[in-house]
Amino acid sequence: MKNSERPTALVTGGSRGIGAATSQRLAAAGYRVAVNYYSNRGAADDVVAKIEADGGSAFAVQGDVRDTTQAARLIRQAAPDGRLGALVCNAAAATFVPTPVGSLSWPDFHAKVTDELAGVYTLSQHALSLMAEQRHGSIVFVSSTVADGPPSPGMAAHGTAKAALNTFARFLACEAGPVGVRVNVVAPGFVRTDASAHMPQALQQQLADRAPLRRVAEADDVARAIAMLVGEDARFVTGAVVPVDGGATVSRM
Ligand SMILES: NC(=O)c1ccc[n+]([C@@H]2O[C@H](COP(=O)([O-])OP(=O)(O)OC[C@H]3O[C@@H](n4cnc5c(N)ncnc54)[C@H](OP(=O)(O)O)[C@@H]3O)[C@@H](O)[C@H]2O)c1
Repeated sequence: MKNSERPTALVTGGSRGIGAATSQRLAAAGYRVAVNYYSNRGAADDVVAKIEADGGSAFAVQGDVRDTTQAARLIRQAAPDGRLGALVCNAAAATFVPTPVGSLSWPDFHAKVTDELAGVYTLSQHALSLMAEQRHGSIVFVSSTVADGPPSPGMAAHGTAKAALNTFARFLACEAGPVGVRVNVVAPGFVRTDASAHMPQALQQQLADRAPLRRVAEADDVARAIAMLVGEDARFVTGAVVPVDGGATVSRM
């Protein structure tokens, strides 16, 4: 396929973890992938090199997804011709340390929730505007099972932030549907990435033992679900929050 014929996908935080696996999956599905990164250019270049070695097309784009000006610029850089096929909002832009509410300051709680939403809001707005002109496109947010599952200790800020993300996606799906754009969410449980590497092996094993599929997720497990939601196999799916947790949430119901 010629590069000019490939639809473009912007993957935020596409340089590491779930985002890197998603960039590779979407490139394999025929997208020209804009691999967003924040601070680690080398990781983004590695993902681009892997994609190109496999015959795909990709390029790295730096930017802080929380910043409205940078988010608007990211969309322009990803789709200079105004054609954007997919936006995957995955960046882990709202960092946090698990903390009980009793010792979590309002500024820290506030920063977590607003950073999570800031990381998707402007990007979605600009992507939707382009996709509406094409009357086609797909937006996927990466949330967490923490949002709708049983409240885990210390995860109030993260869970609240991701729950807000799920709700925002549903509103956006209703607004975007009539102009041909779908909006969905994947909600992973524990996924083995740099961000979760601090989790002790024994705890990871406990999570694996509790999941009906008897393992924890690799980044590519989530990337496959994202690619499915982005693609035409999910052409009548919108407003959905899809858990990608090996059944762990269901087994706790
Ligand atoms: N890992 C899990 O267990 C798990 C579970 C459920 C949900 N999730 C969600 O999955 C998503 C990805 O997590 P991950 O574990 O794959 O993270 P990760 O391996 O730590 O990768 C984080 C990615 O986000 C980028 N990033 C960070 N801040 C950014 C910003 N302000 N603007 C743009 N990009 C930024 C990083 O770029 P640089 O390296 O350049 O900084 C990197 O590409 C997150 O939304 C997270 O909440 C993860």
